[in-house]
Amino acid sequence: MNKDIERILFSEDDLKAAAKRVGAQITKDYEGKNPLLVGILKGSVVFMADLMREIGLNCDIDFMVAKSYGNAAVSSGNVKIIKDLDTDITGRDIIIIEDILDSARTLYSVRNYLLQKNPSSVKICTLLDKQVERAFDLKADYKCFDIENEFVVGYGLDYAEKYRCLPYVGVLKREVYEK
Ligand code: IMP
Ligand code: MG
Repeated sequence: MNKDIERILFSEDDLKAAAKRVGAQITKDYEGKNPLLVGILKGSVVFMADLMREIGLNCDIDFMVAKSYGNAAVSSGNVKIIKDLDTDITGRDIIIIEDILDSARTLYSVRNYLLQKNPSSVKICTLLDKQVERAFDLKADYKCFDIENEFVVGYGLDYAEKYRCLPYVGVLKREVYEK
C-alpha cells in the first residue's frame, strides 16, 4: 500500500464488482438506446474505462472539463467550459460520469449547461457519493458507493494531481494535506 494512504476503502475487486453492477443497471435501463457517456476529466477516467466495458450497448463517449464559479444554485450561467463536447447532443441520452459528488457545485452547472442543448435526457452516474449537506439540488441516478466525509484518492481521484494511478480507493493520511 502507498505510504500516504491511511486505509483502503475499496479494493480493486470491490471496484470491479461495482462497475459490473452499475453497468448492468445502465444496460437494462437504456435497452435499445445509444447513450452518450460524458466523462468529467480527469477524475472519472479510470471509472469510465471500467464502466463502459460493462455496458452491453452501443455507447458513445465524450469528455468535458469545466470549472464553476459564483453561486451556481442561483444562476446556471456561471460555469466555465474549459473543454467542451465534440458531439452534437441534440436528442441524445446523456449519462454524465463523475468520480465523486461532494458539494455537487460543478456538476449542477454542467448539467444545466447540457440541458440547454436539448438532449433527450441527462442522468448522472458517480463512483462515489459523499455524505454531506448539499446546497445544490442534485442527486446521482447511478452510484457505486456512498462514503463518509473523508478525503479519498486513487482509481482516478487525486490530491494535487497525485495518486490517480493507485488501483484502489483509499483515505489519504491527514498529515499529507495538513502539512
Ligand atoms: P464538487 O463540485 O464539490 O462536488 O466537487 C467535486 C470534485 O471535487 C470532484 O470531481 C473531485 O475532483 C473533487 N473532490 C471532492 N472530494 C474529493 C475527495 O475526497 N478526493 C479527491 N477529489 C475530491
Ligand atoms: Mg479533482
